[in-house]
Amino acid sequence: MPKVRLHLEEEVYEQEIKENSNLVVLAGTRQLPHLKYGCGMGKCTKCACKILKGEENLQEPNWKEKKMLGEKVEEGYRLACQLTITDDIELKQEAVPMKKIKQEATKVSSTN
Ligand code: FES
Repeated sequence: MPKVRLHLEEEVYEQEIKENSNLVVLAGTRQLPHLKYGCGMGKCTKCACKILKGEENLQEPNWKEKKMLGEKVEEGYRLACQLTITDDIELKQEAVPMKKIKQEATKVSSTN
């Protein structure tokens, strides 16, 4: 079974999940209670995480992730609601809401 290691502010949570699970579905059913999420459909960015380990085991970012995260995709950020987990993964959720990070990224890119 894949192991998920989630860094959230100062805490680290680790647990095994079923293969081919979606992290936000698990969070919604209290099987992964600490993960922050919102819409579950790639529209709100509340589930955004930076992948620390296991990126090679994930599918390529889809159009929703590219649209909502912009340049952050290149930095290793993903939308947890869009991921199917097949192997061990380590990720970090920011204390700062992703929308704010996205606005900053947009602001930086607009000055270029
Ligand atoms: S939960 Fe809204 S984008 Fe993932």
